[in-house]
Amino acid sequence: MVFKYVIFATMFVPISHCANILGIMPTPSYSHQIVYTPLWKELSLRGHSVTVITTNPVNDPKLVNLTEIDINFVYSYFANVSKLAENTLTMWNMYEVFTEIILAFEEVILSFPPVQELIHNKKTFDVVLVEFVCPELLNFAKIYDCPAILISSLDISAPFHRALGNPSPTSLYADIGTPFLAPLNFKERIINTIFDLYTSYYYTYVFYPKRERLLKKYLNSTVSTEKLISEVDMVFRNVNPVVQMDRAVGSTTISIGGYRETISSKPLPKTNLIDTIGKGKSLSFKICPLKIFLSRIGKVLRHRRAICFEWHSGPKRVGGANSVSVTYIKT
Ligand SMILES: *[C@@H]1O[C@H](CO)[C@@H](O)[C@H](O)[C@H]1NC(C)=O
Ligand SMILES: *[C@@H]1O[C@H](CO)[C@@H](O)[C@H](O)[C@H]1NC(C)=O
Ligand SMILES: *[C@@H]1O[C@H](CO)[C@@H](O)[C@H](O)[C@H]1NC(C)=O
Repeated sequence: MVFKYVIFATMFVPISHCANILGIMPTPSYSHQIVYTPLWKELSLRGHSVTVITTNPVNDPKLVNLTEIDINFVYSYFANVSKLAENTLTMWNMYEVFTEIILAFEEVILSFPPVQELIHNKKTFDVVLVEFVCPELLNFAKIYDCPAILISSLDISAPFHRALGNPSPTSLYADIGTPFLAPLNFKERIINTIFDLYTSYYYTYVFYPKRERLLKKYLNSTVSTEKLISEVDMVFRNVNPVVQMDRAVGSTTISIGGYRETISSKPLPKTNLIDTIGKGKSLSFKICPLKIFLSRIGKVLRHRRAICFEWHSGPKRVGGANSVSVTYIKT
């Protein structure tokens, strides 16, 4: 009889399994990291043991289950990007430019002692999350022989969608590297197709081989990056299907857009915006073409100011571009 009661009582006992989670988020950019941090925070608060390699650790002593490996020094590799963006960056050379920068800081990250320790003193992890900027780091899941998740603070580019088996017709979906918004007109479809051929070529013959050489050096890895991407167990991408035109994806691709939380431990200074911008002046620019967008960002970065973007009543097409207003906040 007692046995029956015990069985009955155990039916109401909640069972949960806590996991060891590793996040590798190498991009030195607040706008990237801000997407991921709430995830680490929540997972650790729910009892999971989370280790994350990040450029923007939150250093919150209350998050006892969160271990942050601080790679903030990687920001110095992006110090020259603003100048570069202003002068030379276009949608046609951005992969070339960023590949070199990313390659440089990826090597520094891989040789960083706490990361070396992760590689050599193999801890066990139950899942590895890798930022899509460095997909070759999915190799870490091979070290721990565990599932891998690719995570992105924006949509993933067309070659990634294809590797995952998501339909990717260039006549329908604009690549994230282009300034186009669906529905595409005829000219945009042509440019989008040429851009897609260029990125596919670049990824296969330049971007992946260079990174693979690096991973071979640090992890003895021989798996191709394309294979690693096609084998991921899930993809989380920061896309908001209400604001952006969404696309057809398979069941492993999940949209996590629409949530924003400030991760900085310091509150924003109370600055009078009118003093900062100048009385009677307002600031706005169009995200088109990409060169202009990046050059404006470059100017802002050089003046060491944080910027906030605000969509006004959704993306409006103004002369083929999105209209976005910009607010300067002094830092
Ligand atoms: C840390 O994780 C343990 C279980 O692993 C959990 O009981 C505890 O509530 C967590 N603490 C915090 C502050 O997240
Ligand atoms: C940034 O540019 C300066 C001058 O062009 C150069 O000397 C320096 O090495 C560059 N820094 C990095 C991290 O690439
Ligand atoms: C790679 O192989 C070399 C030689 O076999 C070995 O010394 C090194 O520890 C290996 N590295 C990793 C990360 O397994």
